[in-house]
Amino acid sequence: MKRFECANDGTLSSEMLTAYDSDGYLVLERFFSNTECDSLRERANHLIEETDITALSSVFSTTAHSHAKDEYFQTSGDKIRFFLESESLNESGELKYPATESVNKIGHALHDLDPVFSRFSRSDKLNRLAQQIGYTDPKLLQSMYIFKSPRIGGEVNCHQDSTFLYTDPLSCTGFWVALEDATVENGCMYALPGEHKGPLKERFHRNDNGDLTFTAIEEPDWKAQAVALEAKKGSLVLLHGKLPHLSGANRSDNSRHAYTLHVIDGSCHYPADNWLVRSDDMPLTGFETPA
Ligand code: FE2
Repeated sequence: MKRFECANDGTLSSEMLTAYDSDGYLVLERFFSNTECDSLRERANHLIEETDITALSSVFSTTAHSHAKDEYFQTSGDKIRFFLESESLNESGELKYPATESVNKIGHALHDLDPVFSRFSRSDKLNRLAQQIGYTDPKLLQSMYIFKSPRIGGEVNCHQDSTFLYTDPLSCTGFWVALEDATVENGCMYALPGEHKGPLKERFHRNDNGDLTFTAIEEPDWKAQAVALEAKKGSLVLLHGKLPHLSGANRSDNSRHAYTLHVIDGSCHYPADNWLVRSDDMPLTGFETPA
């Protein structure tokens, strides 16, 4: 797997842009410092400590998809909400582990509602990256802090991010940051190189009844072998919105924290039946520092 290290200001070389175009992903090592990574970890822990996790019941699982029925999930697009690991609960629905090890992820508007995450998400170098991969009006749509906790971190099945963050034309890109070393052992991502050049398989959206559902678009013919995107702490992985990717369960003793920011282009149509909705008083913002 190719790895790169870009300039401090986020400037990409032509070799990096060529690799991204050909593979659909780009691993940039040492993009963020250990201090920057640790600031997000500390903030996420703080947010959990401020919250009564024991009162939560929404489990996030890409295999069972039970969260899709939860109003708590459905209305989380412009909130900071906490979703549990399915294996964090005992048969009575009580937490078996400490709160910080029971959460699957925090989502989905950390970048707008929390000052630490907002600052991190709006760094000049991320803005520079977005410009170089073709955004003319980048909008920060979704942010997630992913825990992938030791022993119980759930798998994420193979998907394309544009399935969930759909625009017409497609414009979603994931900016994924390793806040700890991500390895095969602790559940790093895998991707199918080059398959972003094929079709989008499906859309996740609200149907006429208001329920969240998947609708098939085109059956892809993915032939590429999955590549492990092992990434050192501080690495940034760019993920094309149509790139199929996944991650396994974490059965190791080490967590695999990551932060991911998804960007779309404001010049593209954002359908009203997309799962992620925001209230009128929280319009999408770009990389500029909020007033
Ligand atoms: Fe994804």
